[in-house]
Amino acid sequence: MTSHVVIKEGPTHLAVPSLHSSGGPGTKGLDVFYNRQMAFNRDVSIMFLRALGSGLKVADCMAATGSRSARMANEVPDIEVVANDIDPRSGDFIRKNIELNGLDNLRVNNQDLACLLSEERFDYVDIDPFGSPIPYLHSAIKGVSRNGILALTATDTAPLAGARRDKCERRYLARPLKWPCHHESGLRILLGTVARDLARFDKGMEPLLSFYCDHYFRVYVRVTKGAERADRTLAQVGHMAYDRQSLVRSVSPDAQGHPYGPLWLGPLHDRGLLADMEVGPSLQEAGRCSKMLALWREELDTPLCYEVAEISSYLKVSPPRMEKLLHSLSRRGPASRSHVSPTCFRTDLPLEEVLDSYLEAAQIDNL
Ligand SMILES: C[S@@+](CC[C@H](N)C(=O)[O-])C[C@H]1O[C@@H](n2cnc3c(N)ncnc32)[C@H](O)[C@@H]1O
Repeated sequence: MTSHVVIKEGPTHLAVPSLHSSGGPGTKGLDVFYNRQMAFNRDVSIMFLRALGSGLKVADCMAATGSRSARMANEVPDIEVVANDIDPRSGDFIRKNIELNGLDNLRVNNQDLACLLSEERFDYVDIDPFGSPIPYLHSAIKGVSRNGILALTATDTAPLAGARRDKCERRYLARPLKWPCHHESGLRILLGTVARDLARFDKGMEPLLSFYCDHYFRVYVRVTKGAERADRTLAQVGHMAYDRQSLVRSVSPDAQGHPYGPLWLGPLHDRGLLADMEVGPSLQEAGRCSKMLALWREELDTPLCYEVAEISSYLKVSPPRMEKLLHSLSRRGPASRSHVSPTCFRTDLPLEEVLDSYLEAAQIDNL
C-alpha cells in the first residue's frame, strides 16, 4: 500500500493517499484517487440512501479508495455494499477502510465494472468516473435491478455546459446551449441522454435527485421497466430555443424552431424522496447539506430559468435582491430560486411579466 494518511469524513475513518486532491472535480493522478471536496457529494449519497429505506444491495463501481463505499456501509443502516475498482491498488485502501471501521457489510471487488455488472444485479449502481459516465451507462443499465437506482456523476462540464459543442454532440448526441443558464441545460442534457439510452432497452426513468455543484453534475434516477414507461419517459425529453437579443426562451417536444437538445424537460427531483431526506448531525458538511436540501425542496420543476445579470444588462438596471425579485414575481405567478446558481431563478411566467417584475423589484430596491 502506498504512503497514506487516515482522515475522518463524517463518522467514518478513511485511509487515503498522503497526496490527494482537495479541490476541483479531480483528475487522474499517479496514486489511487481521493478528493476531499467530494465529501459533500458522499454526504448526499448517505442522506439519499437513508431515505430510500433498508435492505439495499449497492455497487460502488468506481470505488478508488472506497471512501464512498466505506461511508455507505458505515453510515446507512441495513445495507450491503460492493466496492469495485479496476485498479488493483485500490483494493489495499478498501481493505484498510473495512478494517478501520470494523465493517462486515462491505466486499472488495477488483474487476472492470462491465464484468461485475454482467454477473450481478444491484438495487443501487454508482458510477463516479473521471469525466463522463456515458461510456459506462450500458453496463450500469444492465446491472441495475428492477426499480433500482442509477447514481451518476459527470465532471465533463465543458461539453455539457456548451463550451465544447463538438464533444457534447458526440458523447451526448445533443446540441448544448451557450446561454446564461448553461449548467441548468447541462444537467438536463445529461438526464435526457440517460432517458434516451434507457428507452432503447424498453426502460423508463424517474429522476429522484439531480444537481450541479462544485464543477460536476450528479443525478440519481429510478429505472423503471416496460415499453409504456419508456414512452412516458421519452415524452419528457424535448428541445429548447433561446434568443440572445430578445431573451426569449421556450421549450418544445420537437426540434422544429428549437435547435438545442434533446434535453430532459421533466422534474429534476422526486418531492417525496426530498421530504424523507434528513440531514443528520454526523454528516461531514451538515450545514451545506441543509442549505442544498432546502433549495432542492423549494425550486420549481420548470427548465425555464433566468440569470439576473442577463436581465440587468438587457433592462440596464442594477440587480434587485433575490428576495425582492421573487416576491415581485410571485405576485404574478409561481417563481423560485434555483440550486444551480445563487443568481438564477425559475419561472414559467411570460417574458414581459418577468421583465415587469424585475423592474418593479429593482425600483423598490433602489428607493
Ligand atoms: C473519480 S475516481 C472514483 C472516486 C471515488 N468514487 C471516490 O468517491 O473517492 C474513478 C475511478 O474509476 C476507476 N475506473 C476507471 N475505469 C474503470 C472500469 N472500467 N471499471 C472499474 N473501475 C474503473 C479508476 O481506477 C478510478 O479509481
